[in-house]
Amino acid sequence: MGSLFSNTISLRKSVQISDDEFVQLRDFIYEKSGIFVDIKRKYLFESRFSKRLSALGLSSFGDYVKFLKYDSNKAQELNKLFELVTTNETSFWRDTKQLESFRDHVLKEKIEEQRKAGKLELNIWSAGCSSGEEPYTLSILLHEVLRMELAKWRINITAVDLSPAMIERAQKGVYGEYAFKTTPEEIKNRYFTKDPGGWKIKPAVGKLIKFQQMNLNDRMSLKRVPRSHIVFCRNVIIYFDQDMKQRVVGSFYDNLLPDGYLMLGHSETLHKVSKTFKPIYHPGTIAYKKEG
Ligand SMILES: C[S@@+](CC[C@H](N)C(=O)[O-])C[C@H]1O[C@@H](n2cnc3c(N)ncnc32)[C@H](O)[C@@H]1O
Repeated sequence: MGSLFSNTISLRKSVQISDDEFVQLRDFIYEKSGIFVDIKRKYLFESRFSKRLSALGLSSFGDYVKFLKYDSNKAQELNKLFELVTTNETSFWRDTKQLESFRDHVLKEKIEEQRKAGKLELNIWSAGCSSGEEPYTLSILLHEVLRMELAKWRINITAVDLSPAMIERAQKGVYGEYAFKTTPEEIKNRYFTKDPGGWKIKPAVGKLIKFQQMNLNDRMSLKRVPRSHIVFCRNVIIYFDQDMKQRVVGSFYDNLLPDGYLMLGHSETLHKVSKTFKPIYHPGTIAYKKEG
Protein backbone atom coordinates (compact mmCIF):
# COMPACT_ATOMS: atom_id res chain seq x y z
CA MET A 1 0.00 0.00 0.00
CA GLY A 2 1.45 3.41 -0.94
CA SER A 3 2.62 5.79 1.75
CA LEU A 4 3.92 9.30 1.70
CA PHE A 5 6.38 8.20 4.32
CA SER A 6 7.72 5.08 2.65
CA ASN A 7 10.94 5.25 0.65
CA THR A 8 10.29 6.20 -2.92
CA ILE A 9 13.03 4.97 -5.23
CA SER A 10 12.84 6.90 -8.45
CA LEU A 11 15.15 7.55 -11.36
CA ARG A 12 13.12 10.64 -12.25
CA LYS A 13 14.70 13.98 -11.31
CA SER A 14 12.53 15.41 -8.57
CA VAL A 15 11.29 19.01 -8.56
CA GLN A 16 12.95 20.96 -5.72
CA ILE A 17 10.67 22.56 -3.12
CA SER A 18 11.72 25.75 -1.28
CA ASP A 19 10.89 26.25 2.42
CA ASP A 20 8.33 28.86 1.45
CA GLU A 21 6.63 26.54 -1.09
CA PHE A 22 6.69 23.72 1.46
CA VAL A 23 4.86 25.90 4.00
CA GLN A 24 2.28 26.96 1.37
CA LEU A 25 1.57 23.35 0.36
CA ARG A 26 1.69 22.06 3.96
CA ASP A 27 -0.81 24.73 5.08
CA PHE A 28 -3.10 23.97 2.14
CA ILE A 29 -3.07 20.24 2.98
CA TYR A 30 -3.76 21.03 6.64
CA GLU A 31 -6.62 23.38 5.82
CA LYS A 32 -8.28 20.79 3.58
CA SER A 33 -7.66 17.56 5.51
CA GLY A 34 -6.31 18.30 8.98
CA ILE A 35 -3.20 16.25 8.08
CA PHE A 36 -0.10 17.99 9.42
CA VAL A 37 3.25 17.34 7.72
CA ASP A 38 6.41 18.26 9.62
CA ILE A 39 9.14 20.25 7.82
CA LYS A 40 11.49 17.29 8.42
CA ARG A 41 9.50 15.46 5.76
CA LYS A 42 9.99 18.18 3.15
CA TYR A 43 12.09 15.96 0.87
CA LEU A 44 9.21 13.46 0.78
CA PHE A 45 7.06 16.08 -0.93
CA GLU A 46 9.71 16.29 -3.63
CA SER A 47 9.86 12.53 -4.21
CA ARG A 48 6.14 12.01 -3.95
CA PHE A 49 4.75 14.95 -5.91
CA SER A 50 7.29 15.32 -8.75
CA LYS A 51 5.50 12.82 -11.01
CA ARG A 52 2.19 14.65 -10.49
CA LEU A 53 3.77 18.02 -11.24
CA SER A 54 5.23 16.76 -14.51
CA ALA A 55 1.90 15.11 -15.47
CA LEU A 56 0.31 18.55 -15.06
CA GLY A 57 3.16 20.26 -16.94
CA LEU A 58 4.13 22.30 -13.89
CA SER A 59 7.74 23.10 -13.10
CA SER A 60 7.46 24.38 -9.51
CA PHE A 61 5.59 23.65 -6.29
CA GLY A 62 4.50 27.31 -6.25
CA ASP A 63 2.63 26.70 -9.51
CA TYR A 64 1.15 23.51 -8.07
CA VAL A 65 -0.29 25.38 -5.07
CA LYS A 66 -1.81 27.96 -7.47
CA PHE A 67 -3.28 25.09 -9.51
CA LEU A 68 -4.80 23.57 -6.37
CA LYS A 69 -6.33 26.89 -5.39
CA TYR A 70 -7.51 28.40 -8.66
CA ASP A 71 -7.63 25.94 -11.57
CA SER A 72 -11.01 24.92 -12.97
CA ASN A 73 -10.00 21.29 -12.20
CA LYS A 74 -9.11 22.07 -8.59
CA ALA A 75 -11.80 19.75 -7.14
CA GLN A 76 -10.43 16.70 -9.01
CA GLU A 77 -6.89 17.71 -8.15
CA LEU A 78 -7.77 17.85 -4.48
CA ASN A 79 -8.66 14.14 -4.62
CA LYS A 80 -5.30 13.41 -6.30
CA LEU A 81 -3.63 15.38 -3.53
CA PHE A 82 -5.44 13.31 -0.89
CA GLU A 83 -4.19 10.13 -2.56
CA LEU A 84 -0.62 11.39 -2.50
CA VAL A 85 -0.64 12.69 1.01
CA THR A 86 -2.34 9.86 2.93
CA THR A 87 -0.69 6.85 4.51
CA ASN A 88 -2.97 3.91 3.83
CA GLU A 89 -1.18 1.06 5.58
CA THR A 90 -3.72 -1.48 6.84
CA SER A 91 -4.53 -5.20 6.92
CA PHE A 92 -7.23 -7.64 8.00
CA TRP A 93 -7.11 -8.59 11.66
CA ARG A 94 -4.72 -5.71 12.34
CA ASP A 95 -3.66 -5.77 15.99
CA THR A 96 -5.16 -9.18 16.79
CA LYS A 97 -4.86 -8.75 20.58
CA GLN A 98 -6.87 -5.54 20.50
CA LEU A 99 -9.54 -7.10 18.28
CA GLU A 100 -9.89 -10.17 20.50
CA SER A 101 -10.20 -7.97 23.55
CA PHE A 102 -12.73 -5.77 21.72
CA ARG A 103 -14.74 -8.87 20.78
CA ASP A 104 -14.67 -10.39 24.29
CA HIS A 105 -15.47 -7.19 26.21
CA VAL A 106 -16.80 -4.21 24.25
CA LEU A 107 -18.71 -6.07 21.55
CA LYS A 108 -20.02 -8.65 24.02
CA GLU A 109 -21.28 -5.87 26.32
CA LYS A 110 -23.02 -4.01 23.49
CA ILE A 111 -24.64 -7.17 22.11
CA GLU A 112 -25.93 -8.17 25.54
CA GLU A 113 -27.22 -4.64 26.19
CA GLN A 114 -29.09 -4.58 22.89
CA ARG A 115 -30.54 -8.06 23.44
CA LYS A 116 -31.77 -7.02 26.89
CA ALA A 117 -33.34 -3.88 25.43
CA GLY A 118 -34.95 -5.98 22.69
CA LYS A 119 -33.27 -3.81 20.04
CA LEU A 120 -31.28 -6.07 17.78
CA GLU A 121 -29.39 -3.27 16.05
CA LEU A 122 -25.83 -2.04 16.09
CA ASN A 123 -24.21 0.92 14.36
CA ILE A 124 -20.46 0.96 13.94
CA TRP A 125 -18.40 3.71 12.30
CA SER A 126 -15.00 2.92 10.82
CA ALA A 127 -13.43 6.36 10.38
CA GLY A 128 -10.33 6.27 8.17
CA CYS A 129 -11.04 2.79 6.79
CA SER A 130 -8.37 2.90 4.05
CA SER A 131 -8.94 0.06 1.54
CA GLY A 132 -11.59 -1.63 3.68
CA GLU A 133 -9.72 -4.26 5.67
CA GLU A 134 -10.83 -2.79 9.04
CA PRO A 135 -14.62 -2.63 8.39
CA TYR A 136 -14.56 -6.06 6.68
CA THR A 137 -12.76 -7.43 9.75
CA LEU A 138 -15.50 -5.95 11.96
CA SER A 139 -18.20 -7.48 9.80
CA ILE A 140 -16.46 -10.87 9.96
CA LEU A 141 -16.19 -10.58 13.76
CA LEU A 142 -19.94 -9.99 13.93
CA HIS A 143 -20.59 -12.99 11.69
CA GLU A 144 -18.36 -15.11 13.95
CA VAL A 145 -19.98 -13.92 17.19
CA LEU A 146 -23.64 -13.85 16.14
CA ARG A 147 -23.62 -16.78 13.67
CA MET A 148 -27.25 -17.81 12.87
CA GLU A 149 -28.61 -14.97 15.03
CA LEU A 150 -27.08 -12.39 12.68
CA ALA A 151 -30.11 -12.64 10.36
CA LYS A 152 -32.28 -11.12 13.13
CA TRP A 153 -30.00 -8.09 13.61
CA ARG A 154 -29.85 -4.77 11.80
CA ILE A 155 -26.18 -3.97 11.58
CA ASN A 156 -24.77 -0.90 9.85
CA ILE A 157 -21.07 -0.34 9.46
CA THR A 158 -20.37 3.11 8.03
CA ALA A 159 -16.86 3.06 6.56
CA VAL A 160 -15.32 6.33 5.40
CA ASP A 161 -11.98 7.54 4.11
CA LEU A 162 -10.54 10.73 2.66
CA SER A 163 -9.04 8.98 -0.35
CA PRO A 164 -11.49 8.15 -3.18
CA ALA A 165 -9.00 5.60 -4.55
CA MET A 166 -9.08 3.71 -1.23
CA ILE A 167 -12.89 3.72 -1.15
CA GLU A 168 -12.96 2.35 -4.70
CA ARG A 169 -10.57 -0.43 -3.71
CA ALA A 170 -12.64 -1.20 -0.61
CA GLN A 171 -15.81 -1.46 -2.70
CA LYS A 172 -14.10 -3.92 -5.07
CA GLY A 173 -13.15 -6.06 -2.08
CA VAL A 174 -10.31 -7.95 -3.78
CA TYR A 175 -7.06 -8.36 -1.85
CA GLY A 176 -3.57 -9.77 -2.27
CA GLU A 177 -1.64 -11.86 0.26
CA TYR A 178 -0.21 -8.80 2.08
CA ALA A 179 -3.64 -7.88 3.41
CA PHE A 180 -3.86 -11.26 5.18
CA LYS A 181 -0.54 -11.16 6.98
CA THR A 182 -2.17 -11.43 10.43
CA THR A 183 -5.39 -13.20 9.43
CA PRO A 184 -6.12 -16.73 10.65
CA GLU A 185 -6.17 -19.11 7.67
CA GLU A 186 -9.63 -20.48 8.52
CA ILE A 187 -11.09 -16.94 8.47
CA LYS A 188 -9.62 -16.33 5.02
CA ASN A 189 -11.07 -19.60 3.73
CA ARG A 190 -14.49 -19.02 5.28
CA TYR A 191 -15.07 -15.41 4.20
CA PHE A 192 -13.17 -15.03 0.91
CA THR A 193 -13.24 -16.73 -2.45
CA LYS A 194 -10.32 -17.13 -4.84
CA ASP A 195 -10.25 -14.46 -7.53
CA PRO A 196 -7.87 -13.73 -10.42
CA GLY A 197 -6.78 -10.59 -8.49
CA GLY A 198 -6.26 -12.45 -5.20
CA TRP A 199 -9.06 -13.10 -2.72
CA LYS A 200 -12.54 -11.61 -2.93
CA ILE A 201 -14.66 -10.88 0.12
CA LYS A 202 -17.98 -12.79 0.18
CA PRO A 203 -21.05 -10.59 -0.49
CA ALA A 204 -22.64 -11.43 2.92
CA VAL A 205 -19.72 -9.69 4.67
CA GLY A 206 -19.97 -6.60 2.47
CA LYS A 207 -23.73 -6.37 2.97
CA LEU A 208 -23.32 -4.87 6.44
CA ILE A 209 -21.04 -2.06 5.22
CA LYS A 210 -21.65 1.29 3.50
CA PHE A 211 -18.47 2.80 2.09
CA GLN A 212 -18.20 6.49 1.28
CA GLN A 213 -15.57 9.13 0.78
CA MET A 214 -15.61 11.52 3.71
CA ASN A 215 -13.24 14.10 5.11
CA LEU A 216 -12.96 14.01 8.91
CA ASN A 217 -12.11 17.71 8.65
CA ASP A 218 -15.61 18.43 7.33
CA ARG A 219 -17.83 18.74 10.42
CA MET A 220 -21.06 18.96 8.40
CA SER A 221 -20.43 15.61 6.66
CA LEU A 222 -19.66 13.94 9.97
CA LYS A 223 -23.05 15.03 11.28
CA ARG A 224 -24.70 12.89 8.60
CA VAL A 225 -23.17 9.66 9.94
CA PRO A 226 -25.83 7.64 11.83
CA ARG A 227 -25.41 7.72 15.64
CA SER A 228 -23.02 4.91 16.58
CA HIS A 229 -22.68 2.38 19.36
CA ILE A 230 -19.00 2.00 18.50
CA VAL A 231 -16.51 4.17 16.59
CA PHE A 232 -13.29 2.68 15.27
CA CYS A 233 -10.67 5.28 14.38
CA ARG A 234 -7.37 3.44 14.42
CA ASN A 235 -4.07 4.82 13.16
CA VAL A 236 -5.63 7.99 11.80
CA ILE A 237 -5.34 10.74 14.42
CA ILE A 238 -1.54 10.27 14.53
CA TYR A 239 -1.47 12.31 11.29
CA PHE A 240 -3.36 15.23 12.84
CA ASP A 241 -2.17 18.10 15.02
CA GLN A 242 -3.60 18.70 18.49
CA ASP A 243 -6.35 21.03 17.33
CA MET A 244 -7.60 18.65 14.62
CA LYS A 245 -7.40 15.68 17.02
CA GLN A 246 -9.63 17.57 19.46
CA ARG A 247 -12.14 18.51 16.77
CA VAL A 248 -12.37 14.97 15.38
CA VAL A 249 -12.62 13.31 18.77
CA GLY A 250 -15.28 15.89 19.69
CA SER A 251 -17.27 14.84 16.62
CA PHE A 252 -16.97 11.16 17.63
CA TYR A 253 -18.24 12.07 21.10
CA ASP A 254 -21.25 13.86 19.62
CA ASN A 255 -21.92 10.96 17.24
CA LEU A 256 -21.72 8.21 19.87
CA LEU A 257 -24.86 7.02 21.64
CA PRO A 258 -24.77 7.06 25.46
CA ASP A 259 -22.44 4.30 26.75
CA GLY A 260 -20.87 4.05 23.29
CA TYR A 261 -17.20 3.27 22.75
CA LEU A 262 -14.35 4.83 20.80
CA MET A 263 -11.51 2.48 19.78
CA LEU A 264 -8.17 4.03 18.77
CA GLY A 265 -4.97 2.47 17.42
CA HIS A 266 -2.58 0.92 19.94
CA SER A 267 -0.09 3.82 19.70
CA GLU A 268 -2.81 6.47 20.07
CA THR A 269 -4.28 7.98 23.21
CA LEU A 270 -6.78 10.62 24.29
CA HIS A 271 -4.26 11.97 26.80
CA LYS A 272 -4.21 15.77 26.27
CA VAL A 273 -6.92 15.41 23.59
CA SER A 274 -10.17 14.83 25.47
CA LYS A 275 -11.30 14.40 29.06
CA THR A 276 -14.87 13.56 28.15
CA PHE A 277 -14.35 9.82 27.63
CA LYS A 278 -13.72 7.32 30.40
CA PRO A 279 -10.81 4.99 29.57
CA ILE A 280 -11.73 1.37 30.28
CA TYR A 281 -8.70 -0.90 30.49
CA HIS A 282 -9.00 -4.40 29.07
CA PRO A 283 -6.06 -6.76 28.46
CA GLY A 284 -4.69 -5.74 25.06
CA THR A 285 -6.68 -2.54 24.62
CA ILE A 286 -8.15 0.62 26.05
CA ALA A 287 -11.75 1.33 25.11
CA TYR A 288 -12.92 4.93 25.54
CA LYS A 289 -16.45 5.06 26.89
CA LYS A 290 -18.95 7.88 26.52
CA GLU A 291 -20.72 7.55 29.81
CA GLY A 292 -24.45 7.92 29.47
C1 LIG B 1 -2.96 4.24 8.27
S1 LIG B 1 -4.58 4.20 7.58
C2 LIG B 1 -5.46 3.34 8.86
C3 LIG B 1 -6.47 2.37 8.29
C4 LIG B 1 -7.21 1.54 9.35
N1 LIG B 1 -7.99 2.37 10.23
C5 LIG B 1 -6.25 0.67 10.12
O1 LIG B 1 -5.96 0.99 11.28
O2 LIG B 1 -5.76 -0.32 9.57
C6 LIG B 1 -5.10 5.89 7.82
C7 LIG B 1 -6.27 6.28 6.93
O3 LIG B 1 -6.81 7.52 7.39
C8 LIG B 1 -7.27 8.23 6.27
N2 LIG B 1 -7.38 9.67 6.60
C9 LIG B 1 -6.38 10.56 6.86
N3 LIG B 1 -6.88 11.79 7.02
C10 LIG B 1 -8.22 11.69 6.87
C11 LIG B 1 -9.29 12.63 6.89
N4 LIG B 1 -9.09 13.92 7.10
N5 LIG B 1 -10.54 12.18 6.65
C12 LIG B 1 -10.79 10.86 6.42
N6 LIG B 1 -9.80 9.92 6.38
C13 LIG B 1 -8.54 10.33 6.60
C14 LIG B 1 -6.22 7.96 5.22
O4 LIG B 1 -6.70 8.18 3.90
C15 LIG B 1 -5.85 6.50 5.49
O5 LIG B 1 -6.52 5.62 4.63
